[in-house]
Amino acid sequence: MHSGYQVLLIFRHMKRSNFLITLLTGALVLSSCVSNKPAERADEIDKKVNALLAQMTIEEKVGQMVQYNGFYDATGPAPSEGNAQEKYDNLKKGGVGSFLNVRGAKQVRALQKIAVEETRLGIPLIFGLDVIHGHKTLSPIPLAESASWDMQAIKKSARVAAIEASAIGINWTFAPMVDIYRDARWGRVMEGAGEDPYLGAKIGVARIKGFQGDDLSAHNTIAACAKHFAGYGFVEAGKEYNTVDFGTSTLYNIVLPPFKAAVDADVKTVMNAFNIVNGVPSTGNKFLQRDILKGKWGFKGYVISDWASGAEMVNHGFAADLKEASLHAAEAGCDMDMESYTYVNHLVDLVEEGKVNVSIVDEAVGRILRVKYELGLFDDPYKYCDEAREKELLYHDDHQAAALDMAHKSVVLLKNEGGILPLAKDQKKIAVIGALADDKTSMLGSWRIGSDDGTAVSVLEGLNKHTANYTYAKGADVVAGDVNFVFHLNENTTDKSGFKEAIQLAKKSEVVVMVLGEHGFHSGEARSRTKIDLPGVQQQLLEEVYKVNQNIVLVLTNGRPLALPWAADNIPAIVETWQLGTQSGNAIADVLFGAYNPSGKLPMSFPRSVGQCPIYYNKFSTGRPVNAEKNVFWSHYTDEENDPLYAFGYGLSYTTFEYADLKIDDANPKAIKVSVKVTNTGGVSGEEVTQLYIRDKAASVVRPIKELKGFEKYTLAANESKEVTFTLTDAELGFYDNQGNFIVEPGMFDVMVGTSSVKGLSGSFELK
Ligand code: BGC
Repeated sequence: MHSGYQVLLIFRHMKRSNFLITLLTGALVLSSCVSNKPAERADEIDKKVNALLAQMTIEEKVGQMVQYNGFYDATGPAPSEGNAQEKYDNLKKGGVGSFLNVRGAKQVRALQKIAVEETRLGIPLIFGLDVIHGHKTLSPIPLAESASWDMQAIKKSARVAAIEASAIGINWTFAPMVDIYRDARWGRVMEGAGEDPYLGAKIGVARIKGFQGDDLSAHNTIAACAKHFAGYGFVEAGKEYNTVDFGTSTLYNIVLPPFKAAVDADVKTVMNAFNIVNGVPSTGNKFLQRDILKGKWGFKGYVISDWASGAEMVNHGFAADLKEASLHAAEAGCDMDMESYTYVNHLVDLVEEGKVNVSIVDEAVGRILRVKYELGLFDDPYKYCDEAREKELLYHDDHQAAALDMAHKSVVLLKNEGGILPLAKDQKKIAVIGALADDKTSMLGSWRIGSDDGTAVSVLEGLNKHTANYTYAKGADVVAGDVNFVFHLNENTTDKSGFKEAIQLAKKSEVVVMVLGEHGFHSGEARSRTKIDLPGVQQQLLEEVYKVNQNIVLVLTNGRPLALPWAADNIPAIVETWQLGTQSGNAIADVLFGAYNPSGKLPMSFPRSVGQCPIYYNKFSTGRPVNAEKNVFWSHYTDEENDPLYAFGYGLSYTTFEYADLKIDDANPKAIKVSVKVTNTGGVSGEEVTQLYIRDKAASVVRPIKELKGFEKYTLAANESKEVTFTLTDAELGFYDNQGNFIVEPGMFDVMVGTSSVKGLSGSFELK
């Protein structure tokens, strides 16, 4: 998230702490060696942890529970001015367990050296960073990647991110975000896997496996962090940091399953959340952290707070002061504090006053030390600090190739009337309109702390590889002036002075490619919007161009679902490209010219209007779901349809797939087989994602009208057919009751298998 402003801020801060930097980095030349030791067995690690704990003072123990923001960067409200000295002094005393936002092999090594060589026990630090969709080489934003429904590609993307991050000293990423959400107004929808817990769990696990690899002690694997535990995706009205309120059925069946899957996949850390759940802030929530996460699920890693979420319990009205907040957080099972200063300032006193039992501290520290051992940091604290590796790996060609593959697979073709796409190789007179077509930064998306501005391949650059037959006119900017979205929002532009040139160009062109959408920083943390249309004057530009040339391909680039009913009605071709990262322009041009046949499917419903939010496919039936009486008294709007503009699971291809022969074999209730024959009928090779949805017709706690319970992605050559078979077991057919017990109830089920959540073949079976 670099901008001029942030760089300035960093510089300002650098000046202040100049002497520190000199101290920290001066003459610290140490050879780098890479540990090849195999992962140690858990019981051996436990022994070492206990032995170390036995030597630690209470101050050193609490120190392990403290995470500071780095000395020269900030991703949240900055810590109190000038506390760098205090942090530095505390580090030397062994009072810090972790830093976030320190990056670069040299910087990390400098701090690590102090921890290892200057403190009494020499316990290494763990370095965390938000490596959300890559470090330097950026993959598409997570929501876009999720549209691929391709677990191998997603895992690879996380692997690449881990390789680059681990080369700059980082050994812990604050990802994946596995929050489920249903409201496109919320800016953080870009950071997760969409609205469905089944798909979301699979994607979360793929990301964790990519980050953590098979051996956490390798020098290029890093600890993952499932966040935000729990319910952050349900902020009311999509407003950032807002109140959250949902019932137990939603908690157990929608919010928690992706976290449970993450724990089962051995995620090493979990981040709690800013929000309240049932009136109790997540950070101080014993039920969530102790009873469910560490108790019922047996989570062995450690819990980190979100940025200052411990201190924010005072604002929530849950703790009278920071000391009480510290007490609540520790008791509730929050093991490490990020930038709240609650533990560092109060926890030792609380233990000495007998208010917090030392066993709580021991448990937290044991968890943190265990992860440090598993990473191999005790064997070689500098294993991630190899400047040669850093130079060699950042922006590596292999990473670019993986990013391009992921970008291709993330594109969703929303509309293609009259076969306007793909464009012919010799297509003449192409007009390209829209500021985002010539932008090398916006499509990197939000949450890209380590990235460099201007490193995305622009759409124009991508097009250059396919054609020379285009002319470009900007038409209109998205935001006014320089983009400075890091800490403040810019105004969307109102300037229409470029319209005339764009319209004239469109008039004399055969086809118009309009690249419109959001700026990369319209979404992300603290980027909620009440209007989810095209910002600025872009909608007007689209309509003006349409008046002179209707042969328009609308290339959308955005971090959230947008509500664009006019475009859906009028524009013949619409391609959803989200923000595709470093390889954006190449991927987009490949799709436009048919070098890649789009295969993405929406992981989140696109509303017709913002008034439909929250909108999601796996809703419950109401008592009045249809208007059989043709009167007004049923569940609907008087001025808008009930269904979304584009449904969950929807996405077209340049070919077509026909579904036939749905077969259901329910002879074995423990393994019900559902199969369907799919044929590629569209004349070109393509990839399809076949999706299976169930509906439990009557249950002791009502079930959604549709729930995704299986999917398979595969390629079919033209005219090729394939039988796709799913097996439904208790895991797919059961659900959580309101006490959190997983139960399977006999009875009738509907099943639908098809190409989206709204199109497929339906049947039913009885679970006996
Ligand atoms: C976000 C977290 C993030 C943390 C550290 C917080 O504001 O909610 O997701 O990991 O900052 O940057």
